Amino acid sequence: MDVRDYNRRAWNRQVEKGNRWTVPVSPEVTAAARRGEWQIFLTPTKPVPRAWFPALPGRDVLCLASGGGQQGPILAAAGARVTVYDNSPRQLDQDRMVAERDGLEIEIVEGDMRDLSAFPAASFDLIVHPVSNTFVPDVRPVWREAHRVLRPGGDLVIAEFAAPTNRAFRTIYTDYLVAALPRMARLVSSDAPAYTYLAESILAWPDRATLATWMHEAGFGDVKVKDLSGGIVAVHRGQRR
Ligand SMILES: C[S@@+](CC[C@H](N)C(=O)[O-])C[C@H]1O[C@@H](n2cnc3c(N)ncnc32)[C@H](O)[C@@H]1O
Repeated sequence: MDVRDYNRRAWNRQVEKGNRWTVPVSPEVTAAARRGEWQIFLTPTKPVPRAWFPALPGRDVLCLASGGGQQGPILAAAGARVTVYDNSPRQLDQDRMVAERDGLEIEIVEGDMRDLSAFPAASFDLIVHPVSNTFVPDVRPVWREAHRVLRPGGDLVIAEFAAPTNRAFRTIYTDYLVAALPRMARLVSSDAPAYTYLAESILAWPDRATLATWMHEAGFGDVKVKDLSGGIVAVHRGQRR
């Protein structure tokens, strides 16, 4: 399976279906961000701590695999020079629409998050990255590229799926829910192989300590982790050394 092509088509379809991660922010949200009132969600309910972000005015920010007209427009309205990079043309259309509607300057680039050769080394002060590890077989090349295009001292703020932290929950989750996914999919979906892949990839999720180790190996220091949703999702922040 060509994972990149599969995901491009899948996310283009999600835009048509109105998946919540494809719905652009309203003009009120960008107006508030212009007044300094903003927050960024990389997971459904809890915003990333504001203290994890540097002062934005004049900073170069890469919103990585972050199309959909959400994080990019907010950060641009808050004063950053924003580039949104994503694999789905329809997702990028959402950012284009918000930029035109709200008079924001946003650079929009289509591409694969594992290949950031469109950008010279040390181009950005901050990378905001909703999620890698459900869309590529290995996140480490993405983080190595993120390290290359960040300036020294720049921050990478990412959300990743991880093995649940609570032991009882982890057992129920992996032994029952995830194991049942392919069987359920055969009953209700024409795309059972995709669900099998999803179940396999969930079982392969590393724990947050491993994710933090990989961030260190990619060249990031001062790694902070915030667990969300029973530890299934963790938001990490690391500083480029
Ligand atoms: C969950 S959405 C994230 C965007 C959303 N704004 C958010 O806040 O979560 C995942 C995004 O990753 C993008 N994506 C998937 N695979 C990718 C790849 N290989 N390279 C770049 N972007 C990719 C999808 O097109 C989609 O826009």
